[in-house]
Amino acid sequence: MNEIEEQRKYMQKVKELNNKNMKYTILTMGCQLNENDSEKLCGMLEEMGYERTENQKEADIALFNTCCVRENAEDRLFGKLGELKKLKEEKGIIIAIGGCMMQEKHITDKIKESYPFVDIIFGTHTLQRFPEDLYKVLTEKKKLEDILDIDGMVYEGLPIKRDSKIKASVTIMNGCNNFCSYCIVPYVRGRERSRQPRAIIEEVRELAKQGYKEITLLGQNVNSYLRVEREKQIPFEEYEGVHSFATLLQAINKIDGIERIRFVSPHPKDFTDDVIKQIANCDKVCKLVHLPLQSGNTKVLKEMNRKYTKEQYLNLVEKMKERIPNLTLSTDIIVGFPGETDEEFEDTLDVVEKVKFEQVYMFIYSRRVGTPGDKMENQVPDEIKHKRFNRLKELVESQIEENNQKYIGTIQKVLVEGESKNNKELLTGRTDSNKVVIFEGDKSLIGQMIDLKITSEHMWYLKGSIVENN
Ligand code: 5AD
Ligand code: SF4
Repeated sequence: MNEIEEQRKYMQKVKELNNKNMKYTILTMGCQLNENDSEKLCGMLEEMGYERTENQKEADIALFNTCCVRENAEDRLFGKLGELKKLKEEKGIIIAIGGCMMQEKHITDKIKESYPFVDIIFGTHTLQRFPEDLYKVLTEKKKLEDILDIDGMVYEGLPIKRDSKIKASVTIMNGCNNFCSYCIVPYVRGRERSRQPRAIIEEVRELAKQGYKEITLLGQNVNSYLRVEREKQIPFEEYEGVHSFATLLQAINKIDGIERIRFVSPHPKDFTDDVIKQIANCDKVCKLVHLPLQSGNTKVLKEMNRKYTKEQYLNLVEKMKERIPNLTLSTDIIVGFPGETDEEFEDTLDVVEKVKFEQVYMFIYSRRVGTPGDKMENQVPDEIKHKRFNRLKELVESQIEENNQKYIGTIQKVLVEGESKNNKELLTGRTDSNKVVIFEGDKSLIGQMIDLKITSEHMWYLKGSIVENN
């Protein structure tokens, strides 16, 4: 019996064991990969008869899917655990914590010492065993720790409960081999492993059948999809001509029903010409590319182990702009990496000035235990980090305002996602460049791609009106 079949048996056993009307809450931290993992955890829980609630007090299980990329997530987890202590004492709620943070020994040690009431601790490579872990805790009434240090396998066939009926994320690879010196991911997610082309294509086909319109391909380093397998001659089965990221885009572009394809995150060093060509050629691939910069200074980039220079990054952007009509770019930037001087930080501002990103995700450098960055002696004082962050933020916001103006009066193709969160009378959707647009319209438009004329801009969203010939 394979692992997933075995886990399905545990799902059934838990269902039989429990009363009806069991409920769970889930708190997901971090990136879209973690959100996709949470969708799998929700899928397993629902298969076991649990129903999701947002009300902690009525939950029988509280689940946390943690992230450890930056330290604020830790404060958040420990704060939440403090709150849950009372519920544990009052009604014996089961508390389970999984995800990247659980792959860090100093964190699991702290949980065991300071929050001994936590029932299950599981890691990134043991997510698929959650039904078995839960069954054991329910029947044996003891605490359980299920963490593996080795690189996990890629499991297929887990149930999944997706957050949206229109947009779906599909993980195409796990892990990272790059070891950027600030980043904890390679230590907690292990080495790169790609899913088989057939499994991905079949999942996307099934999503199209269910009516999904937008697919986001996920991985820590999507554009090196199948690279390790090719280089190390690890066998994989080519399917529909897919043997690389470029050919994967091509194959997914052919799937009827899917109207938009996005992907996060690629690494600039692996952005090969064949990928650029497919972004340009494939009509469904959005022309917004997320291209993490991290720093605009060559020396800092070297210290970060990013393997490109300021000039190489700018040249890549130029080449992409030439070859991909209507290209827009977004990026990630870290300020205050160890040793970064004021002058070096100016280079980051310079690149931001030049590229004019559609969106910039800005981060203050956060020391991560076990990474080379943490051991560097020339850490930048908090005050300077915050100053630089604010300068960058000012520049980015002024660029966003300027950029938003360009949308006014234009017609944009928008995928309608649902009611606007703040005003149920209005609908919300996104442009190809991932800008939120809010507009008046009939609910029957949800899930459709429509033309909107942009009428005004409001920093983080645009307003639009329906173009008559839709
Ligand atoms: N400190 C701050 N930001 C970080 N990131 C990754 N590690 C750190 C860290 N230690 C940012 C990078 C990455 C994004 C997902 O998180 O910009 O691209
Ligand atoms: Fe972290 Fe760098 Fe890998 Fe991204 S590419 S996950 S930043 S080590």
